[in-house]
Amino acid sequence: MEEIRIVRTTAPKEKPKDESKLGFGQIFTDHMFIMEYAEGKGWHDPRIVPFGDIPMNPAASVLHYGTEIFEGMKAYRTVSGDIRMFRPQENIRRMNNSAERLCLPQLDEAFALKALDTLVELEKDWVPHSEGTSLYLRPFMYGSDPHLGVHAVHNAVFVIICSPVGAYYAEGINPVKIIIESDDVRAVRGGTGYAKCGGNYAASLRAGARAEKKGYTQVLWLDGVERKYIEEVGSMNVMFKVAGKIVTPALTGSVLPGITRKSCIELLRSWGYEVEERLFSVDELTRAAADGTLEEAWGTGTAAVVSPIGQLCYKDTEYVVSGGQIGEITQKLYDNLTGIQWGKEPDTFGWCHKVC
Ligand code: COI
Repeated sequence: MEEIRIVRTTAPKEKPKDESKLGFGQIFTDHMFIMEYAEGKGWHDPRIVPFGDIPMNPAASVLHYGTEIFEGMKAYRTVSGDIRMFRPQENIRRMNNSAERLCLPQLDEAFALKALDTLVELEKDWVPHSEGTSLYLRPFMYGSDPHLGVHAVHNAVFVIICSPVGAYYAEGINPVKIIIESDDVRAVRGGTGYAKCGGNYAASLRAGARAEKKGYTQVLWLDGVERKYIEEVGSMNVMFKVAGKIVTPALTGSVLPGITRKSCIELLRSWGYEVEERLFSVDELTRAAADGTLEEAWGTGTAAVVSPIGQLCYKDTEYVVSGGQIGEITQKLYDNLTGIQWGKEPDTFGWCHKVC
């Protein structure tokens, strides 16, 4: 693979002064990584250039047939001043699984990591300093074939953009209210649910907008066939503590294989908790919520980290979880995971990748 060419901006932007107001995904750094793919030629012209618009042919495959995949990952400034990423190889591997599903080209894993490292190092001053903040990295790939025939792509573009972020939800680490969706579905087995593709999120927007209108932060999805089993929340995987055990939906093909999900399971098991990855029906959930055995509920995701769920609504019945407060395990997971990411806790699993 060619060397990464770097074209520095001549007009660096001012960095955000008040890190308490970063929000999520609203501010972008000075540079982005970009390279193109053409069948027969492979990936070529890898470069870091000033952040800006990307020219696109109006017939490009992505604009018509949704050939797009993405990842969400973060770079952290640790207490000792290093910049590190959390399990970046896992994201790259998942991106290749998503690419395989959408007939987009594979990335060379070592080169993709080099691209991330080079960009993050160049943008290191953009990694925010305050607790609870990070530099969110959004690698994405799309089909750029300028033809209207429906076919697997022969041309693609891979880009990485970076955004300094605070909490994903306005609630921060305070519990969110979630509504269980019984009409729309996000994904079905055999479809693209396990792939991180833009189309899955497009399909989720209508229910998400309805939920917001009713005062809920996000939607909890049920399976697309029977509308019976819990799958995931809008932008996170979901876990429950029921009668002392942790239950989380199994990765049946329609659920995103979250890296924060996987890390939380590994942490929980290392603390001696039994974690069941299985089909978990909405009836079992609401029964546990009604009889008091549902002790905690939380979401996991790169953007959301570990986010407590304080209230659940299903078919107009409201269930308060953990008295509407953050539960003990949820807090412990949040503290440990962010502790490892920010370098406050020892990285005993070897999850962190030092950039500089
Ligand atoms: C993430 O957690 O990074 C995600 O990609 C979820 C979302 C913001 C779409």
